[in-house]
Amino acid sequence: EDTVKVGLMGLGTVGSGVVRLIEDHQEDLYHQTGRRIAIEKVLVRDRLKKRSVPFGKGLLTDRAEDLLENREIDIVVEVMGGIEPAREYIREALLQGKHVVTANKDLMALHGAELLSVAAEKGCDVFYEASVAGGIPILRALVEGFSSDRITKMIGIVNGTTNYILTEMKRRGAPFGEVLHQAQTLGYAEADPASDVDGLDAARKMAILGTLGFRIPLSLEEVKVRGIADVTPEDVQFAEQMGYILKLVGIAQQDHGKVEVSVQPALLSGDHPLASVEGVYNAVSVYGEAVGETMFYGPGAGEMPTATAVVSDLVTVIKQMRLGVNGRGTVAPYREKQLKSPRE
Ligand code: NDP
Ligand code: HSE
Repeated sequence: EDTVKVGLMGLGTVGSGVVRLIEDHQEDLYHQTGRRIAIEKVLVRDRLKKRSVPFGKGLLTDRAEDLLENREIDIVVEVMGGIEPAREYIREALLQGKHVVTANKDLMALHGAELLSVAAEKGCDVFYEASVAGGIPILRALVEGFSSDRITKMIGIVNGTTNYILTEMKRRGAPFGEVLHQAQTLGYAEADPASDVDGLDAARKMAILGTLGFRIPLSLEEVKVRGIADVTPEDVQFAEQMGYILKLVGIAQQDHGKVEVSVQPALLSGDHPLASVEGVYNAVSVYGEAVGETMFYGPGAGEMPTATAVVSDLVTVIKQMRLGVNGRGTVAPYREKQLKSPRE
Protein backbone atom coordinates (compact mmCIF):
# COMPACT_ATOMS: atom_id res chain seq x y z
CA GLU A 1 0.00 0.00 0.00
CA ASP A 2 2.78 2.30 1.10
CA THR A 3 5.19 1.08 -1.59
CA VAL A 4 5.24 1.57 -5.34
CA LYS A 5 6.92 -1.26 -7.20
CA VAL A 6 9.01 -0.41 -10.22
CA GLY A 7 10.38 -2.61 -12.98
CA LEU A 8 13.66 -1.27 -14.35
CA MET A 9 14.63 -2.18 -17.93
CA GLY A 10 18.37 -1.55 -18.30
CA LEU A 11 21.14 -1.20 -15.75
CA GLY A 12 23.80 0.63 -17.74
CA THR A 13 24.85 4.26 -17.31
CA VAL A 14 21.35 5.68 -16.80
CA GLY A 15 19.84 2.66 -15.04
CA SER A 16 22.65 2.62 -12.46
CA GLY A 17 22.12 6.35 -11.85
CA VAL A 18 18.40 5.76 -11.33
CA VAL A 19 19.11 3.08 -8.71
CA ARG A 20 21.62 5.32 -6.92
CA LEU A 21 19.35 8.37 -6.94
CA ILE A 22 16.33 6.47 -5.59
CA GLU A 23 18.56 5.06 -2.85
CA ASP A 24 20.33 8.34 -1.98
CA HIS A 25 17.20 10.53 -2.01
CA GLN A 26 14.83 7.95 -0.57
CA GLU A 27 13.58 10.04 2.35
CA ASP A 28 13.06 13.14 0.27
CA LEU A 29 11.19 11.19 -2.40
CA TYR A 30 9.00 9.68 0.29
CA HIS A 31 8.16 13.11 1.65
CA GLN A 32 7.09 14.23 -1.80
CA THR A 33 5.11 11.18 -2.83
CA GLY A 34 4.01 9.50 0.39
CA ARG A 35 5.24 6.21 -1.09
CA ARG A 36 8.40 4.15 -0.85
CA ILE A 37 9.88 3.31 -4.25
CA ALA A 38 10.96 -0.32 -4.50
CA ILE A 39 12.77 -1.68 -7.53
CA GLU A 40 11.14 -5.06 -7.90
CA LYS A 41 12.94 -6.45 -10.98
CA VAL A 42 15.75 -5.31 -13.26
CA LEU A 43 15.94 -6.45 -16.86
CA VAL A 44 19.44 -6.83 -18.32
CA ARG A 45 20.99 -8.72 -21.21
CA ASP A 46 23.68 -10.45 -19.18
CA ARG A 47 22.76 -11.41 -15.61
CA LEU A 48 26.33 -12.47 -14.82
CA LYS A 49 28.02 -9.17 -15.74
CA LYS A 50 29.73 -7.32 -12.86
CA ARG A 51 27.60 -4.31 -11.83
CA SER A 52 28.53 -1.01 -10.22
CA VAL A 53 25.34 -1.08 -8.15
CA PRO A 54 24.86 -4.17 -5.98
CA PHE A 55 21.65 -6.15 -6.39
CA GLY A 56 20.49 -9.41 -4.91
CA LYS A 57 20.67 -12.23 -7.49
CA GLY A 58 16.87 -12.68 -7.57
CA LEU A 59 16.30 -9.10 -8.70
CA LEU A 60 18.16 -9.28 -12.01
CA THR A 61 16.51 -11.06 -14.90
CA ASP A 62 17.03 -11.48 -18.62
CA ARG A 63 13.34 -12.27 -19.22
CA ALA A 64 11.12 -9.27 -19.95
CA GLU A 65 8.04 -11.32 -18.91
CA ASP A 66 9.32 -11.21 -15.33
CA LEU A 67 8.52 -7.49 -15.33
CA LEU A 68 5.68 -7.31 -17.80
CA GLU A 69 3.64 -10.14 -16.30
CA ASN A 70 4.30 -9.12 -12.70
CA ARG A 71 1.02 -7.60 -11.53
CA GLU A 72 2.68 -5.95 -8.55
CA ILE A 73 4.76 -3.70 -10.81
CA ASP A 74 2.94 -0.41 -11.39
CA ILE A 75 5.61 1.47 -13.33
CA VAL A 76 8.18 0.39 -15.90
CA VAL A 77 11.29 2.53 -16.31
CA GLU A 78 12.85 1.82 -19.73
CA VAL A 79 16.52 2.80 -19.93
CA MET A 80 17.85 0.08 -22.19
CA GLY A 81 17.70 2.04 -25.44
CA GLY A 82 17.17 1.12 -29.10
CA ILE A 83 13.93 0.61 -31.00
CA GLU A 84 13.23 -3.12 -30.66
CA PRO A 85 12.60 -4.78 -28.28
CA ALA A 86 12.10 -1.53 -26.29
CA ARG A 87 9.03 -0.59 -28.34
CA GLU A 88 7.44 -4.01 -27.90
CA TYR A 89 8.13 -4.03 -24.14
CA ILE A 90 6.76 -0.53 -23.57
CA ARG A 91 3.67 -1.32 -25.61
CA GLU A 92 3.10 -4.48 -23.62
CA ALA A 93 3.68 -2.68 -20.31
CA LEU A 94 1.01 -0.12 -21.27
CA LEU A 95 -1.40 -2.83 -22.38
CA GLN A 96 -0.89 -4.38 -18.93
CA GLY A 97 -1.91 -1.03 -17.41
CA LYS A 98 1.58 -0.04 -16.26
CA HIS A 99 2.84 3.54 -16.45
CA VAL A 100 6.08 4.11 -18.35
CA VAL A 101 9.05 6.42 -17.88
CA THR A 102 11.67 6.29 -20.61
CA ALA A 103 14.88 8.05 -21.66
CA ASN A 104 14.62 6.66 -25.18
CA LYS A 105 14.63 9.43 -27.80
CA ASP A 106 15.20 6.99 -30.69
CA LEU A 107 11.90 5.36 -29.80
CA MET A 108 9.91 8.47 -28.88
CA ALA A 109 10.99 10.35 -32.02
CA LEU A 110 9.91 7.44 -34.22
CA HIS A 111 7.03 5.75 -32.37
CA GLY A 112 6.02 8.30 -29.73
CA ALA A 113 2.58 8.94 -31.25
CA GLU A 114 1.73 5.23 -31.34
CA LEU A 115 2.85 4.63 -27.74
CA LEU A 116 1.03 7.71 -26.45
CA SER A 117 -2.16 6.48 -28.15
CA VAL A 118 -1.90 3.10 -26.44
CA ALA A 119 -1.19 4.91 -23.14
CA ALA A 120 -4.24 7.12 -23.54
CA GLU A 121 -6.47 4.13 -24.30
CA LYS A 122 -5.31 2.42 -21.14
CA GLY A 123 -5.27 5.52 -18.92
CA CYS A 124 -1.51 5.24 -18.44
CA ASP A 125 1.28 7.80 -18.41
CA VAL A 126 4.33 7.90 -20.67
CA PHE A 127 6.91 10.44 -19.51
CA TYR A 128 10.23 10.92 -21.33
CA GLU A 129 11.94 14.03 -19.93
CA ALA A 130 15.40 12.39 -20.04
CA SER A 131 15.13 11.85 -23.79
CA VAL A 132 16.12 15.44 -24.58
CA ALA A 133 19.01 17.40 -23.06
CA GLY A 134 19.71 15.02 -20.14
CA GLY A 135 19.34 16.89 -16.85
CA ILE A 136 17.59 19.99 -18.25
CA PRO A 137 13.80 19.81 -17.66
CA ILE A 138 13.10 21.19 -21.12
CA LEU A 139 10.07 19.04 -22.05
CA ARG A 140 8.17 20.14 -18.95
CA ALA A 141 9.08 23.71 -19.75
CA LEU A 142 7.69 23.42 -23.28
CA VAL A 143 4.48 21.61 -22.39
CA GLU A 144 3.65 23.35 -19.11
CA GLY A 145 5.81 26.45 -18.79
CA PHE A 146 4.96 27.87 -22.22
CA SER A 147 1.40 26.56 -22.57
CA SER A 148 0.13 30.15 -22.66
CA ASP A 149 2.55 31.26 -25.38
CA ARG A 150 3.24 30.44 -29.03
CA ILE A 151 6.77 29.22 -29.57
CA THR A 152 8.31 30.42 -32.81
CA LYS A 153 11.86 29.13 -32.61
CA MET A 154 14.15 26.82 -30.66
CA ILE A 155 17.91 26.80 -31.11
CA GLY A 156 20.10 24.48 -29.17
CA ILE A 157 23.06 22.29 -28.51
CA VAL A 158 21.30 19.05 -27.68
CA ASN A 159 24.01 16.41 -27.98
CA GLY A 160 26.54 16.15 -25.16
CA THR A 161 28.95 13.77 -26.89
CA THR A 162 29.58 15.96 -29.93
CA ASN A 163 29.81 19.10 -27.81
CA TYR A 164 32.37 17.33 -25.63
CA ILE A 165 34.34 16.28 -28.73
CA LEU A 166 34.30 19.79 -30.26
CA THR A 167 35.27 21.35 -26.93
CA GLU A 168 38.25 19.01 -26.43
CA MET A 169 39.36 19.57 -30.04
CA LYS A 170 39.30 23.32 -29.43
CA ARG A 171 40.98 23.23 -26.01
CA ARG A 172 43.84 20.85 -26.75
CA GLY A 173 43.65 19.83 -30.40
CA ALA A 174 42.74 16.28 -29.35
CA PRO A 175 42.14 13.86 -32.22
CA PHE A 176 38.54 12.86 -32.97
CA GLY A 177 38.89 9.16 -32.15
CA GLU A 178 40.56 9.79 -28.80
CA VAL A 179 37.89 12.21 -27.52
CA LEU A 180 35.07 10.04 -28.80
CA HIS A 181 36.56 7.16 -26.83
CA GLN A 182 36.64 9.39 -23.72
CA ALA A 183 32.99 10.35 -24.24
CA GLN A 184 32.13 6.65 -24.42
CA THR A 185 34.08 5.89 -21.24
CA LEU A 186 32.27 8.72 -19.45
CA GLY A 187 28.91 7.18 -20.46
CA TYR A 188 27.85 10.10 -22.69
CA ALA A 189 27.76 8.35 -26.07
CA GLU A 190 25.01 6.19 -27.53
CA ALA A 191 25.51 2.41 -27.80
CA ASP A 192 26.27 3.13 -31.47
CA PRO A 193 28.17 6.44 -31.28
CA ALA A 194 27.54 7.06 -34.99
CA SER A 195 24.12 8.38 -33.84
CA ASP A 196 25.89 11.14 -31.94
CA VAL A 197 28.61 11.89 -34.50
CA ASP A 198 26.31 11.89 -37.54
CA GLY A 199 23.80 14.21 -35.87
CA LEU A 200 20.98 11.68 -35.73
CA ASP A 201 20.67 11.76 -31.95
CA ALA A 202 20.34 15.56 -32.08
CA ALA A 203 17.82 15.24 -34.94
CA ARG A 204 15.66 12.90 -32.85
CA LYS A 205 15.76 15.38 -29.99
CA MET A 206 14.87 18.29 -32.28
CA ALA A 207 11.91 16.27 -33.63
CA ILE A 208 10.67 15.79 -30.05
CA LEU A 209 11.22 19.47 -29.21
CA GLY A 210 9.43 20.55 -32.39
CA THR A 211 6.45 18.26 -31.74
CA LEU A 212 6.01 19.47 -28.17
CA GLY A 213 7.01 23.09 -28.69
CA PHE A 214 5.08 23.79 -31.89
CA ARG A 215 2.19 21.44 -30.99
CA ILE A 216 2.25 19.72 -34.34
CA PRO A 217 2.99 16.15 -35.37
CA LEU A 218 6.55 16.34 -36.65
CA SER A 219 8.33 13.31 -38.07
CA LEU A 220 12.00 12.54 -38.02
CA GLU A 221 12.19 12.58 -41.85
CA GLU A 222 11.36 16.26 -41.76
CA VAL A 223 14.61 17.05 -39.92
CA LYS A 224 17.58 17.89 -42.16
CA VAL A 225 20.75 16.45 -40.64
CA ARG A 226 24.50 16.95 -40.96
CA GLY A 227 26.90 15.70 -38.32
CA ILE A 228 30.53 16.38 -37.38
CA ALA A 229 32.23 13.24 -38.72
CA ASP A 230 34.35 15.32 -41.14
CA VAL A 231 35.41 17.97 -38.63
CA THR A 232 39.09 18.00 -37.63
CA PRO A 233 40.82 19.64 -34.61
CA GLU A 234 42.49 21.99 -37.13
CA ASP A 235 39.06 23.18 -38.39
CA VAL A 236 37.93 23.92 -34.84
CA GLN A 237 41.14 25.71 -33.84
CA PHE A 238 41.30 27.70 -37.09
CA ALA A 239 37.70 28.85 -36.59
CA GLU A 240 38.58 29.97 -33.08
CA GLN A 241 41.53 32.01 -34.34
CA MET A 242 39.08 33.80 -36.65
CA GLY A 243 36.79 34.54 -33.69
CA TYR A 244 34.25 31.73 -34.29
CA ILE A 245 33.29 28.67 -32.30
CA LEU A 246 32.23 25.53 -34.14
CA LYS A 247 29.15 23.86 -32.63
CA LEU A 248 26.62 21.21 -33.66
CA VAL A 249 23.45 23.27 -33.56
CA GLY A 250 19.79 22.23 -33.85
CA ILE A 251 17.30 24.78 -35.14
CA ALA A 252 13.52 24.45 -35.23
CA GLN A 253 11.42 27.35 -36.44
CA GLN A 254 7.87 27.90 -37.54
CA ASP A 255 6.46 30.75 -39.50
CA HIS A 256 2.76 30.83 -40.41
CA GLY A 257 2.45 27.06 -40.12
CA LYS A 258 5.61 26.36 -42.13
CA VAL A 259 8.05 24.43 -39.97
CA GLU A 260 11.76 23.90 -40.59
CA VAL A 261 13.97 21.73 -38.44
CA SER A 262 17.65 21.01 -38.99
CA VAL A 263 20.85 19.92 -37.29
CA GLN A 264 24.21 21.04 -38.62
CA PRO A 265 27.68 22.23 -37.63
CA ALA A 266 27.61 26.02 -37.38
CA LEU A 267 30.19 28.74 -36.82
CA LEU A 268 28.99 30.92 -33.96
CA SER A 269 30.53 34.28 -33.16
CA GLY A 270 32.44 34.14 -29.87
CA ASP A 271 29.84 36.26 -28.05
CA HIS A 272 26.84 34.11 -29.07
CA PRO A 273 25.26 32.59 -25.92
CA LEU A 274 25.65 29.04 -27.30
CA ALA A 275 29.36 29.59 -28.02
CA SER A 276 30.24 29.33 -24.32
CA VAL A 277 28.36 26.04 -23.81
CA GLU A 278 31.23 23.60 -23.33
CA GLY A 279 31.91 19.93 -22.70
CA VAL A 280 28.91 17.71 -22.04
CA TYR A 281 26.69 20.72 -21.39
CA ASN A 282 23.62 21.44 -23.51
CA ALA A 283 21.58 24.60 -23.92
CA VAL A 284 18.33 25.42 -25.64
CA SER A 285 17.07 28.92 -26.44
CA VAL A 286 13.29 29.04 -26.72
CA TYR A 287 11.66 32.04 -28.38
CA GLY A 288 8.00 32.72 -27.65
CA GLU A 289 5.81 35.43 -29.19
CA ALA A 290 4.91 36.79 -25.77
CA VAL A 291 7.85 35.80 -23.59
CA GLY A 292 10.68 36.70 -26.00
CA GLU A 293 13.91 34.73 -25.62
CA THR A 294 14.55 32.28 -22.79
CA MET A 295 17.49 29.95 -22.34
CA PHE A 296 17.85 26.59 -20.63
CA TYR A 297 21.31 25.28 -19.75
CA GLY A 298 22.70 22.20 -18.01
CA PRO A 299 24.39 18.81 -18.33
CA GLY A 300 23.10 17.06 -21.44
CA ALA A 301 24.22 13.50 -20.69
CA GLY A 302 25.84 11.33 -18.03
CA GLU A 303 24.72 9.06 -15.25
CA MET A 304 23.41 11.29 -12.47
CA PRO A 305 22.10 14.26 -14.50
CA THR A 306 20.08 11.91 -16.70
CA ALA A 307 18.89 9.97 -13.66
CA THR A 308 17.43 13.18 -12.17
CA ALA A 309 15.16 13.55 -15.20
CA VAL A 310 14.07 9.89 -15.06
CA VAL A 311 13.40 9.87 -11.30
CA SER A 312 11.58 13.23 -11.45
CA ASP A 313 9.25 11.67 -14.04
CA LEU A 314 8.81 8.74 -11.69
CA VAL A 315 7.85 11.13 -8.87
CA THR A 316 5.26 12.78 -11.14
CA VAL A 317 3.71 9.41 -12.02
CA ILE A 318 3.50 8.42 -8.35
CA LYS A 319 1.98 11.76 -7.31
CA GLN A 320 -0.62 11.33 -10.06
CA MET A 321 -1.33 7.78 -8.90
CA ARG A 322 -2.17 9.16 -5.45
CA LEU A 323 -4.48 11.73 -6.99
CA GLY A 324 -5.96 9.20 -9.44
CA VAL A 325 -5.22 11.42 -12.43
CA ASN A 326 -2.87 9.30 -14.53
CA GLY A 327 -3.33 9.05 -18.27
CA ARG A 328 -1.59 12.15 -19.50
CA GLY A 329 2.20 11.86 -19.48
CA THR A 330 4.26 14.18 -21.67
CA VAL A 331 1.55 14.48 -24.29
CA ALA A 332 2.08 16.64 -27.32
CA PRO A 333 -0.55 19.35 -26.77
CA TYR A 334 -2.07 18.87 -30.25
CA ARG A 335 -2.87 15.32 -29.27
CA GLU A 336 -4.82 16.23 -26.17
CA LYS A 337 -7.78 17.12 -28.36
CA GLN A 338 -7.61 13.78 -30.17
CA LEU A 339 -6.89 11.51 -27.25
CA LYS A 340 -9.28 10.89 -24.43
CA SER A 341 -8.25 8.64 -21.61
CA PRO A 342 -11.08 6.47 -20.26
CA ARG A 343 -10.83 8.25 -16.93
CA GLU A 344 -11.42 11.73 -18.34
P1 NDP B 1 23.86 1.48 -21.63
O1 NDP B 1 24.31 0.84 -22.88
O2 NDP B 1 24.86 1.97 -20.65
O3 NDP B 1 22.89 0.47 -20.83
C1 NDP B 1 21.89 -0.26 -21.46
C2 NDP B 1 21.33 -1.28 -20.48
O4 NDP B 1 20.21 -1.92 -21.05
C3 NDP B 1 22.31 -2.38 -20.08
O5 NDP B 1 22.16 -2.68 -18.71
C4 NDP B 1 21.89 -3.57 -20.95
O6 NDP B 1 22.12 -4.82 -20.33
C5 NDP B 1 20.40 -3.32 -21.06
N1 NDP B 1 19.86 -3.82 -22.34
C6 NDP B 1 20.11 -3.34 -23.57
N2 NDP B 1 19.42 -4.04 -24.50
C7 NDP B 1 18.75 -5.00 -23.83
C8 NDP B 1 17.87 -6.03 -24.21
N3 NDP B 1 17.55 -6.25 -25.49
N4 NDP B 1 17.33 -6.81 -23.25
C9 NDP B 1 17.63 -6.63 -21.95
N5 NDP B 1 18.46 -5.64 -21.52
C10 NDP B 1 19.01 -4.86 -22.44
O7 NDP B 1 22.87 2.67 -22.06
P2 NDP B 1 22.63 4.06 -21.34
O8 NDP B 1 22.31 3.83 -19.92
O9 NDP B 1 23.71 5.00 -21.70
O10 NDP B 1 21.33 4.58 -22.13
C11 NDP B 1 20.06 4.03 -21.88
C12 NDP B 1 19.00 4.87 -22.59
O11 NDP B 1 19.04 6.21 -22.09
C13 NDP B 1 19.17 5.01 -24.11
O12 NDP B 1 17.89 5.10 -24.69
C14 NDP B 1 19.90 6.34 -24.25
O13 NDP B 1 19.70 6.94 -25.50
C15 NDP B 1 19.23 7.14 -23.15
N6 NDP B 1 19.99 8.26 -22.63
C16 NDP B 1 21.28 8.10 -22.24
C17 NDP B 1 21.99 9.14 -21.69
C18 NDP B 1 23.39 9.01 -21.25
O14 NDP B 1 23.99 10.01 -20.83
N7 NDP B 1 23.98 7.81 -21.29
C19 NDP B 1 21.36 10.46 -21.52
C20 NDP B 1 19.98 10.54 -21.94
C21 NDP B 1 19.32 9.47 -22.48
P3 NDP B 1 23.61 -5.35 -19.99
O15 NDP B 1 24.10 -4.44 -18.89
O16 NDP B 1 23.42 -6.74 -19.53
O17 NDP B 1 24.39 -5.21 -21.25
N1 HSE C 1 24.41 10.39 -26.43
C1 HSE C 1 23.60 11.42 -25.92
C2 HSE C 1 24.38 12.70 -25.88
C3 HSE C 1 23.09 11.08 -24.55
O1 HSE C 1 25.60 12.64 -25.96
O2 HSE C 1 23.79 13.78 -25.80
C4 HSE C 1 22.10 12.09 -24.01
O3 HSE C 1 20.91 12.06 -24.71
